[in-house]
Amino acid sequence: MASHLNSPASTLAGKRILLGVSAGIAAYKSAQITRLIKQAGGDVRVVMTDGAQAFITPLTLQALSGEAVRTSLLDPEAEAGMGHIELARWADALLIAPATADLIARLVHGLADDLLTTLSLACEAPRLIAPAMNQAMWRHPASQRNARKLVEDGWQVIGPAAGEQACGDVGPGRMSEPEEIVQALTDKLAPPLAMTNDERPHAVITAGPTREPLDPVRYLTNKSSGKMGYALATAAVEAGFRVTLISGPVSLATPSGVTRIDVESALDMQREALRLAPHAALFIGCAAVADYRAEHPAEHKIKKTGDSDTLTLTLVKNPDIIAEVAALKAPARPFVVGFAAETRELERYAADKLARKNLDMIVANDVSREGLGFGSDDNAALLVWQTPQGIECQSAPAQSKRMLARAIIDQALSLTNFNAEPFS
Ligand code: PMT
Repeated sequence: MASHLNSPASTLAGKRILLGVSAGIAAYKSAQITRLIKQAGGDVRVVMTDGAQAFITPLTLQALSGEAVRTSLLDPEAEAGMGHIELARWADALLIAPATADLIARLVHGLADDLLTTLSLACEAPRLIAPAMNQAMWRHPASQRNARKLVEDGWQVIGPAAGEQACGDVGPGRMSEPEEIVQALTDKLAPPLAMTNDERPHAVITAGPTREPLDPVRYLTNKSSGKMGYALATAAVEAGFRVTLISGPVSLATPSGVTRIDVESALDMQREALRLAPHAALFIGCAAVADYRAEHPAEHKIKKTGDSDTLTLTLVKNPDIIAEVAALKAPARPFVVGFAAETRELERYAADKLARKNLDMIVANDVSREGLGFGSDDNAALLVWQTPQGIECQSAPAQSKRMLARAIIDQALSLTNFNAEPFS
């Protein structure tokens, strides 16, 4: 993941970062986070929970940050230097990495029973948090509920990433890589786009399937390979956009020049989409988002039980991500392009989705055609958009997804002014 991220060098110049470290095997990565913040020109002060000190010593982080590490709320000597309220006021941003399930639960409940939770309540600067825990713990409804609550309370939740875990499990819950965390911090503290050197309009694109867990080893998903969304990301870079790709689990390389954020479930994708879309000029929802997820994913592997030949699962509706993006109010609302995967009556169903989800344009593809749509290298589509006179369409014949992506970006460029270069 880290390799495609831009270097954060010098981008945190003069910024004062309070880094909170809680217990967890990922605590050792806080050393790298500290180094990256310093390399980017930031001033970092570290606060550790009691548990964190079992994984990495305060001395290590003190040596890397060049500042005394704070570990206790009731330390008269430290409080005499800079009291905890002053420390909270000092920060331009509070970053907690890693954050355990326990710490997150305490933050959600507003507890102030140690220095880090107290600072979290007192700090009015932007707050970012990188959860890290076992995959079953992260999938537990309580953790999911708490993560949503953090977002509601104004925290930016980074990750967690999916993959192999220290305990041997595989799944979501690993702390995001330090480079990605520091990039998120940099983006959060970046001046508005017009004041940065990067004047390119920002395109956010979703791609691939989502995975909705049923138990620790099973999930609901679909056949999306990500090829169409990744081709759009390439075409958008070529057209002059700065591109962020929010990707479900796929086995494709990140296109050159693209920042990629990996997600698993529809709720993960929703969180990242709603975080990024308000700062984007263009949003394209190409992902095949699962419409439903298990209401209560099982904590342990579901067993074959008794004599019953049937198993009943209760599914609940996932949020409609693209409709939520399209419901943003100006100036936070980007130009919104959706996809419609249909098997018949393309124009009628596409026009219906365009209106129902309040989109600016929709790309309808017939996913029943042999060699096109899901998984293939080629695709054909009907591009549909609204004009004051009514619905207009343009048919794009079967061609490589790369070429179709260019046609889609071109059509979007012709409908609004992004200051990007059309292909034709
Ligand atoms: O990935 P590939 O193998 O290359 O295949 C490409 C593709 C067939 C997946 C792609 O071209 C495509 O059609 N993507 C959209 C698939 C889909 O979910 O279509 P839909 O008609 O169910 O959804 C309509 C729109 O709502 C889409 O923009 C979708 O991203 C969005 N949506 C759907 C459900 C949901 N809960 N949230 C959403 O945002």
